Amino acid sequence: MKRIGTGARAFAVSLAATSLAATNLAAASLAAATFAILVSSAPGFAAAKKGDLQRGETLLAANCGRCHAIGKSGDSAHHLAPPFRILGQRYTIESLEEALGEGLISGHPDMPEFKFPPGDVGAIIDYLKSIQVPK
Ligand code: HEC
Repeated sequence: MKRIGTGARAFAVSLAATSLAATNLAAASLAAATFAILVSSAPGFAAAKKGDLQRGETLLAANCGRCHAIGKSGDSAHHLAPPFRILGQRYTIESLEEALGEGLISGHPDMPEFKFPPGDVGAIIDYLKSIQVPK
């Protein structure tokens, strides 16, 4: 089980505060962008990827949608639950990967514990990345 929140937030802040880390981060996202371009030109892979995104969306709609807004717009049904498209403003989406696989809980008692098998975690992470909006 992994508690998310405060710790991850502090981590995100310390990353932003270190200019060296920021430089590395820029280099990493450039590499990621290059990779994405390479990958999207391979038709088979792109198709699988799209199915994965859809599966991630379906999983989140079924398990989280009654509280969280899971799309690119709209309000959360639970007024305290953050819309998923802003999670990336608090911490990296990858940092949720472990929590989703080992058991995700939040500081809020209304939110039940969730645990997903590895294949589902990948689909959820990919979907979450696809909907993030910058601050
Ligand atoms: C019954 C309502 C409910 C459901 C269902 C629910 N959540 Fe939440 N979730 C909340 C609330 C309320 C918060 C706000 C917690 C806080 O601010 O302490 C929250 C917060 C979060 C956070 C942010 C935690 C933080 O501390 O910043 C994440 C990530 C999250 N939920 C993911 C999920 C995922 C993924 C699912 C589905 C697998 C899910 N939630 C299902 C109510 C829910």
